[in-house]
Amino acid sequence: MNGEEPEDTQSGANRKQEALDYFRAKGQMERAREVLRLFSAAKKAASIYPPNHEICINSFTAFMRSFNDYLAWREDFSLRIVGEEFFYEEKLMPRESILYYPLIGELKNKDIGGITIAAGLTPGEFVDFLYLLNLGAEELRDKGGLRRLMEERDVGNITLDEPGTWEEKSFEIKERDSAREEYFDAVDVIRELADQVMTDRRLSVSKANRVVGVMLNRVGENRSAVLGLATIKNYDEYTSFHSVNVLILSLALGSMLPLDRSSLMILGTGALLHDLGKITIPQSILNKTGPLTTQEWQMMQDHPVKGADILMAQPGVHPLSVMVAYEHHARYDLAGYPKVNRKERIGLFSRIVEVCDVYDAMTSARPYQKARTPDQAMRVLVKDMGTAFDPLMVKVFIDMMGLFPVGTLVRLATGEVAVIYEPGESDAMWPRVKVIRDPEGGAVEPRIVDLVYLKDKIGETGQAILEALHPASLGIDPQEYL
Ligand SMILES: [Fe+2]
Ligand SMILES: [Fe+2]
Repeated sequence: MNGEEPEDTQSGANRKQEALDYFRAKGQMERAREVLRLFSAAKKAASIYPPNHEICINSFTAFMRSFNDYLAWREDFSLRIVGEEFFYEEKLMPRESILYYPLIGELKNKDIGGITIAAGLTPGEFVDFLYLLNLGAEELRDKGGLRRLMEERDVGNITLDEPGTWEEKSFEIKERDSAREEYFDAVDVIRELADQVMTDRRLSVSKANRVVGVMLNRVGENRSAVLGLATIKNYDEYTSFHSVNVLILSLALGSMLPLDRSSLMILGTGALLHDLGKITIPQSILNKTGPLTTQEWQMMQDHPVKGADILMAQPGVHPLSVMVAYEHHARYDLAGYPKVNRKERIGLFSRIVEVCDVYDAMTSARPYQKARTPDQAMRVLVKDMGTAFDPLMVKVFIDMMGLFPVGTLVRLATGEVAVIYEPGESDAMWPRVKVIRDPEGGAVEPRIVDLVYLKDKIGETGQAILEALHPASLGIDPQEYL
């Protein structure tokens, strides 16, 4: 985007980094496998022999040595159980899940959903843990449970997850993935619809409705997660991605108002298809960096009317959806285009889509503009409240997004760089973030931090988030971390 670096050098550097990352991840996984193998062997030895037996001593020492080697990669070792399988962190261990199948069953039977071993582990602690773990499930229960026994023995460097912990988490991850799939499906559909209209001016309304329905369900399930999707941008194929983003933002905003499902469907169809009239404008004009000629500007200004014409000709498109396409640039004060006469205001759905349309356009990088950060874009919405935008819609929009919506790249008070991950449960100013860079700008293993915990450090009135950052200027894609 900046063109400062020749592209081949950059992609060469990227490939090198990719290769390094690959080997690093592979090395780490190999170590993790070895740790698990020796853990299992040590546990077995402890189940047969007393701790001072030579076989035990050898296997405990082998485990400790391997664990200490592993610590070059990570500060702790975390083994998780999902279903009948072992995961090392987020990665499935297919071979080990078969090899240590009985161990998985035993751990589950002893109410363990995962084991984390921290860097400070001492050999004594490890041995104590193994002998406790080898007690029968019933005996453990009679003695108050494994966790209590571990506490009594001061086994502090090993922690156990409750059963099912990672099943729920992996469900969450899968949910996120399928929501992303739906996003890209929606992009495919709008692309297809535009092609179809280009060739025979017909449009499959049922396809459009299906996309709107799917997104509406997502919004109903988890509004903030869906809003994170609306931060996906595509420089080369702006209009399709923009249409889906405007759909998501409009449905999310509409669902904050007292609108029923059928109204939201009509709103969504209008939002998804609001720029359909652009299909007749050449890319060279849409992407022009210099000022437009009078004739080009006329073409641009015609897209709402053209879009409305196309939609009106399709059976099954609600007149209010058509109106959205027609009015989305007309502005709240009617000073936009096309000129809307005999009206005090544009329609409610048009006012919703207008705010979302301008917000997504402003936060996207285009040939003629740099992307604004979400907080900058929201300040523009506030500045033009009452003139370009319906003040109430802007207020609800900001309420919904928070100043730093999900997916925003930010600098924290600690100097670290993070991506907003989830809105705060009680207070939007204290969201959960994923920290991805240290204060010096070095990459760190992404970790989720609840900013509420920064309150103690910086005080109730202090700011946990200093500023929003431009992802492109740091070469970061926040989407990777959501
Ligand atoms: Fe438009
Ligand atoms: Fe638009």
